[in-house]
Amino acid sequence: MEKRTELYAGKAKTVYTTDDPERLVLEFRDDTSAFDGEKVAQLARKGRVNNRFNAFIMERLQAAGIPTHFERLLSERESLVKRLDMLPVESVIRNVSAGSLCRRLGIEEGLDLEPPVQEFFLKNDALHDPMINESHMITFHWATEGEISRMKELTRQVNGVLQTLFADAGLVLVDYKLEFGRFRGELLLGDEFTPDGCRLWDRETREKLDKDRFRQGLGSVVESYEEVARRIGVEL
Ligand code: TMP
Ligand code: ASP
Repeated sequence: MEKRTELYAGKAKTVYTTDDPERLVLEFRDDTSAFDGEKVAQLARKGRVNNRFNAFIMERLQAAGIPTHFERLLSERESLVKRLDMLPVESVIRNVSAGSLCRRLGIEEGLDLEPPVQEFFLKNDALHDPMINESHMITFHWATEGEISRMKELTRQVNGVLQTLFADAGLVLVDYKLEFGRFRGELLLGDEFTPDGCRLWDRETREKLDKDRFRQGLGSVVESYEEVARRIGVEL
């Protein structure tokens, strides 16, 4: 496999083409952004930690029967993935109230949500990733009805696997965001699963160990990612 040209630079990752038209290289950078790119910083070691973290989670999900784009780690900061035709939406599950749910609905933070809340957002920084519903996705051709139900099914299955994995490490999986894409007629989990795109709290102290530390200026951002990684058994 040969890395070719830069295809796209996102806020935290850069995507490269390869000599195989169906494979891409993801490079995890140290760049960190929040609030739709309004707050940015470089955090030493983050790219490396997230690359390993993501590989570990994707392999666990794959082993549990959830189809993902992940193929293998290539280097400290790079992973090889299948090239998906990404849907422009984000699928979120919330097990505990936090973040935009609290802001939008005036719900207090930290309430157990039973059943978990499932939401969709449009990936559009200029519009601040607005919340959308199934009708929007169908009318504007962002996803078909079949794809919507598959996204919901897979997002829920991921919850089952990861709630247990994190609970065994003394962590609460508060919420998370997933992105999906098409590959040879099938919907696969794409993008990444790292503390940049989920909320994780210590079960006893409720300390935040995810990107909220960066959003809220709490410090020790990468140290917290490393702490989570260590607890779930990611080799750093
Ligand atoms: P929210 O509370 O800001 O709506 O986010 C819910 C979860 O989804 C939280 O873990 C952060 C994650 N998320 C992203 O990583 N990127 C996004 O663009 C959005 C909307 C959410
Ligand atoms: N909306 C997400 C956040 O606040 C991602 C982003 O803004 O880039 O972290």
